[in-house]
Amino acid sequence: MTSHYAVFGNPVSHSKSPLIHAEFARQTSQDMDYRAILAPLDAFVETVAAFRASGGMGANVTVPFKHQAYQLATRHTDRARAARAVNTLKFEDDGSVLGDNTDGAGLVRDITQNLACPVAGKRMLLLGAGGAASGVVLPLILCSPAEIVIANRTREKAILLADDFKQHGKISGCGFDEISGNFDVVINATSASLKGELLPLPDTLFNSGALAYDMMYGREDTPFMAWARTHGATHVSDGLGMLVEQAAESFFLWRGVRPSTLPVIELLRAAR
Ligand code: ATR
Repeated sequence: MTSHYAVFGNPVSHSKSPLIHAEFARQTSQDMDYRAILAPLDAFVETVAAFRASGGMGANVTVPFKHQAYQLATRHTDRARAARAVNTLKFEDDGSVLGDNTDGAGLVRDITQNLACPVAGKRMLLLGAGGAASGVVLPLILCSPAEIVIANRTREKAILLADDFKQHGKISGCGFDEISGNFDVVINATSASLKGELLPLPDTLFNSGALAYDMMYGREDTPFMAWARTHGATHVSDGLGMLVEQAAESFFLWRGVRPSTLPVIELLRAAR
């Protein structure tokens, strides 16, 4: 019997998740379908309930519903609890709803495996302290970097976010004008790229061999990526690999099978 999955968002028609999961299902011979469902801004819970009642077994959740999905889940993984946001729901047979957050694991896998950039012992700079940033801090700090600095336009938010993870390693928060020293990995988790805006970053930011990673992706380089190329970053990447890797983590949670991600990343790059 075909199992049903979906991604809920608003807007959601641009989502690449249906294509990604269709590829994963084909590759691993899973009998499932996966579609994008537009949830009204004031009726996320009802829309998910209707999907579940019609036989849905799990879902991805995207902007702006990740916090509501956290509330909806009756059980959470540690990484979802740390993020206080859920991007993956699994509807269990006993009626409970497991909430997971696979964004950070997807980011870590893309950086460490696909881009072959080890994070352990490295100095990391995380730009932004909103939903996208807070979703990835726990998986990043569990990779044992030498240090994580979180820098944000609103410096207080960076300090508060860093405080949440102090027990796991060396981590601090600051404003953009307080960034000091050089970094091996710099991750842009702000939404500035979406608006085509440049961040006010110091000119000397990158250590030799450094990776600049933008969690956004598009047809062309984001402003952050273009800036990084001309300011000494050795490796520059967008977030397309993270998108596919977080999907693979969700797929694994639902189906217990790990799909091959590289062919799907290549497929998406070719389709742009
Ligand atoms: P998301 O879920 O995408 O993270 P969010 O929670 O609204 O969205 O957070 C947006 C992040 O991008 C924040 O860190 C925000 O900085 P503030 O906390 O100061 O608002 C950051 N951001 C958005 N536009 C920016 C810009 N033009 N320059 C710098 N930072 C920006």
